[in-house]
Amino acid sequence: MKFFIDTANLKEIKEAYELGVLDGVTTNPSLMAKEGITGKDNIMSHYKAICDIVDGDVSAEVVSVDFEGMIREGEELVEIDDKIVVKIPMIKEGVKALKYFSQKGIRTNCTLIFSAGQALLAAKAGATYVSPFIGRLDDISTDGIGLIEQIITIYRNYGFETQVLAASVRHPMHIIQCAEVGADVMTGPLSAMEQLLKHPLTDIGLEKFLADYAKGNS
Ligand code: G3P
Repeated sequence: MKFFIDTANLKEIKEAYELGVLDGVTTNPSLMAKEGITGKDNIMSHYKAICDIVDGDVSAEVVSVDFEGMIREGEELVEIDDKIVVKIPMIKEGVKALKYFSQKGIRTNCTLIFSAGQALLAAKAGATYVSPFIGRLDDISTDGIGLIEQIITIYRNYGFETQVLAASVRHPMHIIQCAEVGADVMTGPLSAMEQLLKHPLTDIGLEKFLADYAKGNS
């Protein structure tokens, strides 16, 4: 399973990259705003800064909701760097844009997926990735991981090449569950990735090893 980090924070992206487990980055307009990145020029140069850190796909979201606007924006975004994947919302115009970009060989990530039907449409339109938001489904007492499983089954039934990118991942159990059901990618915060490495028995064990080593060398 590929690990993407879901942030526009350059420090966290660098930290995850240096950990050696980072395969890409996803962003959205809310994550950009959270870092205080506003205005088209600043946003475009921030995408470039992200691409310069990582070795992998970087999702950059369009903010138009009409077909022509999405195409115009997407074509500008892919000029920034070869790593850019155009992130398109799951709306009617978005489906048309997915098809357009797929025919042009431009990679896409269809975002705001909350149902298997939406994921099926995105795959038929040729999306490279679909992003079901598992945390936001869990928030409304709906099974986010169950949706990932359902989409994987549908894609396998028909051999769709669209990759299932579990988004809105909030904690380490989400990551483990995504891996169990076979998601292609998960995108989440650095904190969730770092929590994967924690175990009290590891800390206790290491403390003892170091203490025993010190005894023999004192
Ligand atoms: O990748 C989608 C993500 O940014 C949404 O996460 O935590 O706002 O639901 P969240």
